[in-house]
Amino acid sequence: MFSGLNHRRSSVLAFGLVATSSLATAGPCDIYSSGGTPCVAAHSTTRALYGAYSGPLYQVSRGSDGATTNITPLSAGGVANAAAQDSFCAGTTCLITIIYDQSGHGNHLTQAPPGGAASGPQPNGFDNLASAVGAPVRLNGQKAYGVFIAPFTGYRNNAANGTATGDASEGLYAVFDGTHYNTACCFDYGNAETNSRDTGNGHMEAIYFGTGDGSGRGTGSGSGPWIMADLENGLFSGLSPINNPADPTISSRFVTAVVKGEPNQWAIRGGDATSGTLSTFYNGARPSGGYNPMSKEGAIILGIGGDNSDGAQGTFYEGVMTSGYPSDSTENSVQADIVAAKYVYDTSLMTSGPALNVGSSISLRATTACCTTRYIAHTGATVNTQVVSTSSSTALKQQASWTVRTGLGNSACFSFESNDTPGSFIRHSNYQLMVNANDGSKIFHEDATFCPQAGLNGQGNSFRSWSYPTRYWRHYNALGYIASNGGEHEFDSATLFNDDVSFVVSAGFA
Ligand SMILES: *[C@@H]1O[C@H](CO)[C@@H](O)[C@H](O)[C@H]1NC(C)=O
Repeated sequence: MFSGLNHRRSSVLAFGLVATSSLATAGPCDIYSSGGTPCVAAHSTTRALYGAYSGPLYQVSRGSDGATTNITPLSAGGVANAAAQDSFCAGTTCLITIIYDQSGHGNHLTQAPPGGAASGPQPNGFDNLASAVGAPVRLNGQKAYGVFIAPFTGYRNNAANGTATGDASEGLYAVFDGTHYNTACCFDYGNAETNSRDTGNGHMEAIYFGTGDGSGRGTGSGSGPWIMADLENGLFSGLSPINNPADPTISSRFVTAVVKGEPNQWAIRGGDATSGTLSTFYNGARPSGGYNPMSKEGAIILGIGGDNSDGAQGTFYEGVMTSGYPSDSTENSVQADIVAAKYVYDTSLMTSGPALNVGSSISLRATTACCTTRYIAHTGATVNTQVVSTSSSTALKQQASWTVRTGLGNSACFSFESNDTPGSFIRHSNYQLMVNANDGSKIFHEDATFCPQAGLNGQGNSFRSWSYPTRYWRHYNALGYIASNGGEHEFDSATLFNDDVSFVVSAGFA
């Protein structure tokens, strides 16, 4: 029995067993090792990337007392223990503070510091940390959490050990959410500058996912999103930074994205992370103009550009950096391993607590001791709380009533249409809740999508912003915000946070 197990772990030929066996099998980094291009960084909040890895995957910190805990796989080589996170974070908020390197090189990712292009929102200029609950998924039926990068969120390691520098060869892959992206710079994973500044062309080699930044940078076919390479001062879809028609628009919910580079040679590959094989979107010479030879610096970024440009969004589940240029066949075996991990988007994981019914009219009562007769209402475009009762005027009852709609930006969650202003929805804008007409834009749809979960104070529901999942509907001085627990604004105050973000849902007054 044990020799059989060891055989599976050590043999490249064992990959076919992954789908049919629950025994430990080779993980992506075992496959890269067998191919002669070992992982020098291996990051995932969803699973172990080596068949024998049972150490910490990530660390979370909770809002109630600032305590931290490490989340490990359920078993060696297995899926993350999401239940341990859920129990640790029950009744409060949690942030992902560290994404551990599984490769043994100590290349952990932590909160990104300020950079040349942008300082993050934190008082010390650091970027935000990701919510621990923004990207739930299942792997082989088991719940796990990805890293949901909202704008201004980023992770980094500027003192990485063993990653490629100069023109040295490396390979990268990552699994992303193919439906979570934007046009801002830059949702990246990979090799970047060690000083968080733009030090010139060729000083980065990172996977980029999104629709480009519209400033003459790379594009593929269709309207995007595309897998591209951020090589600094250029998002490249191929040899020319402008357009590569062979780089397709990605439409799968889970996407495997590959970038690799060696002297005067690099490639982009990609595929559906839940089925099929990888295709090659570019394979050829380095672009001219400072990209050949490369001047890689070896820092590691996630969710930001090399100069800390932090406006992008996306979701990361797993990814690695290798030493050496992996062969296509090694990457094809890694893709088979990812497919066998069976990523599934189970929409029921996005919400919890008392259920909401699409099409129903609801009113939402505050639960903070000050304010238990107040309901979420609006005056013009401003969302506020007002004292409402059955004897209130019809106009006020309508201002405090909302029709539940399927989430405009994500159908697993909900949007809330104004009773007295049909076609207008509650959305966040500059962290304030507003009632605005649906203009049909991607950003409006995303900003008007909220995911109810069991109320943080044990009453009713808390309404998590889909696009900024560290933030919840909050009443503060009788106005509506999306607030994070102890964040950078006055309305983010940790005092009474759980009460201020918990609302009891009832049938609408109107
Ligand atoms: C750097 O990586 C090597 C493995 O190649 C490891 O032995 C060493 O401990 C790492 N250094 C640090 C500072 O983590």
